[in-house]
Amino acid sequence: MKTKRLLDIPWSEFSALPVEQKTPYLMHADDTPYHTLFAQQFDLSLLEWRTQLATEIRGIAKTRAGMGFLRDLVCHKRAMLYFSQPSSRTFLSFLSACQILGVQTGELRDTATSSEFKGESREDSVRTFSSYFDMIIMRTPEKGLAEYTAWMLSNSERPIPIINAGSGQDQHPTQALLDIYTLVRSFEKAGGLRDRTVVFVGDLARGRTVRSLSRLLTNYPNIRQVFIAPPQLQIGEDVLSNLRSKGVEHYSSDDFNAAIPEADAIYMTRVQDEWDKEKGDSARIDTSRFHFGPEQLKRLQPHAILMHPLPRREEIATSVDHDPRAMYWRQMRNGMWIRTALIAMTFGCDKRIHEYHRQNL
Ligand code: CP
Repeated sequence: MKTKRLLDIPWSEFSALPVEQKTPYLMHADDTPYHTLFAQQFDLSLLEWRTQLATEIRGIAKTRAGMGFLRDLVCHKRAMLYFSQPSSRTFLSFLSACQILGVQTGELRDTATSSEFKGESREDSVRTFSSYFDMIIMRTPEKGLAEYTAWMLSNSERPIPIINAGSGQDQHPTQALLDIYTLVRSFEKAGGLRDRTVVFVGDLARGRTVRSLSRLLTNYPNIRQVFIAPPQLQIGEDVLSNLRSKGVEHYSSDDFNAAIPEADAIYMTRVQDEWDKEKGDSARIDTSRFHFGPEQLKRLQPHAILMHPLPRREEIATSVDHDPRAMYWRQMRNGMWIRTALIAMTFGCDKRIHEYHRQNL
């Protein structure tokens, strides 16, 4: 891919491009992401390198000497965690990832505590962060804000990388990375992530994690995708047309019980009622047939895994948690390692980590 510069394109032109044409503007010269905004920035070789790096970091971090090595790598860097939308896992795993690499952090979790409350524009607010930090990790309810921030800062005297930690209903690329990492690890001793069926269940219309993961999965050979939801919450046409254009086998249905025995992985999601147009819209949809409990567990193949980006509500019974196929707690912890790998790659210290691993483990 020939990289391009965000400096050379006006926002009106850049924002109108299809995502695939935006990605060359977001990469380092060596084709690794500088800004991480979209799942479409990752091809198979980048995914393989990132998941390998996450595993290497995991191994290095087991010893005090290894942790000391990691903590020294980018201790001269600072990251701003700008989370104007609630988060537990993404916030804490990014914070932990920064701590592992020695990156100092600042945080803002409520714009009511910043000068935005006094009427400062979002644009001025993030420019302020860029004065003090070397990276901004952003979660916002607005689709496109991370992208605009990347463009705007690239055109300022303090260009710094932006990581999208969830943008509206649109994308959650780093969640998709940890989901891929979980799938890769789950199947690495059983032929790898290929020739599998992944069944997505729940609120697929508004779940940004599903939209991003569906795209990343198309990088792997012969991964069939199944979308199980009530008609009102079914997956969007943009996801389906992407699958059609890539020749990926898929289908949509509301028959969860029929899909369970086909699954190598089931990816449950909660109802995203925070996006209801009118309060109570979601409550009028019967989602009880899309819950996973002891009965569904009996239908799950012995080798299959049960995933959830979390937080959950009632869509997975807590009695399922102790089954070895329930992967969601491990999935969550995987987020810390893959986000550490992401920050390491963004700051360009990935090869040093790989070399340390080669020499010491
Ligand atoms: N999966 C996820 O994004 O969780 P949080 O909203 O807690 O960050």
